[in-house]
Amino acid sequence: MATLASEMNTAELAALLHFYAESGVAELCEDAAIDRFQQSAEILKARARPQSQSNSATSQPAQRPAPNQPAPDASPGRKPAAQPIAPAPQASQLTIPGEAAFQDARALAAGAGSIAELRSILESYTGCNLRHSAKTLVFADGNPEAEVMFIGEAPGREEDLQGTPFVGRAGQLLDRMLAAIGLSRETAYITNIIPWRPPGNRTPAAHEIELCRPFVERHIALAQPKIVVMLGNIASKSLLATDKGILSLRGTWMECKIGDTATPAMPTLHPAYLLRNPAQKRLVWADFLSLQERLEQLSTP
Ligand code: URA
Repeated sequence: MATLASEMNTAELAALLHFYAESGVAELCEDAAIDRFQQSAEILKARARPQSQSNSATSQPAQRPAPNQPAPDASPGRKPAAQPIAPAPQASQLTIPGEAAFQDARALAAGAGSIAELRSILESYTGCNLRHSAKTLVFADGNPEAEVMFIGEAPGREEDLQGTPFVGRAGQLLDRMLAAIGLSRETAYITNIIPWRPPGNRTPAAHEIELCRPFVERHIALAQPKIVVMLGNIASKSLLATDKGILSLRGTWMECKIGDTATPAMPTLHPAYLLRNPAQKRLVWADFLSLQERLEQLSTP
């Protein structure tokens, strides 16, 4: 029978928390499950409504409290919310992004004339709710002049703490995969679709991906890589504008089209997925060998 935390003494609680921390638990979740599919469907429905109606709806998923509010069932022992990187908006300011918000994101991104400018625009951008719960902006790592740009999903806990993409366990695996084909952070550029950690590492919602997409697309346009590698489902689906899943997309050379530019693109499996499914590493190995071959072709006159 499970022992309730309220029945434990201090030493038992400390041992349990230590065990959680060692196991990589970074967030405490609610007891009740949250239906994110339903939330996304509601958000999309609200976006389809005229602006005046959608502005009155709250953007936070129904069961989640506003960033600086305790959860309705918060107990005194709960971990406090992460320090916001900008003043968190009041609940009344949190609205489901309407078309104006998406236009704003596109206009801001288009106005970036350099990678440094894009970074500073994102540093002050407040249109995406994720920035209020994240500790840092996780912009990019590696060499912006590299021939190949890797694009993941969103930062996790370690990335949020350090402000650098792919530095946790998945990132360490990515580094080993890069090294296996002679690449490193000196010869590759690395970023994510979403530059802020989603709370509890949840999958980013459809509207969050849509708000961040103009920025990552501008990032690609400014970096001008010769090859783009999408790591996982979210990166592949959003940059290839397809509904196909990563297991059917991976391993095939495609094109990442941004404006008039089409860059050869390889969708492959996300290193975090490989940590959970090590047998699939052989598929990514094949994709990486194909990438290595393309890179060699680029340097052959
Ligand atoms: N997973 C990602 O997709 N990106 C990171 O930066 C880390 C883990």
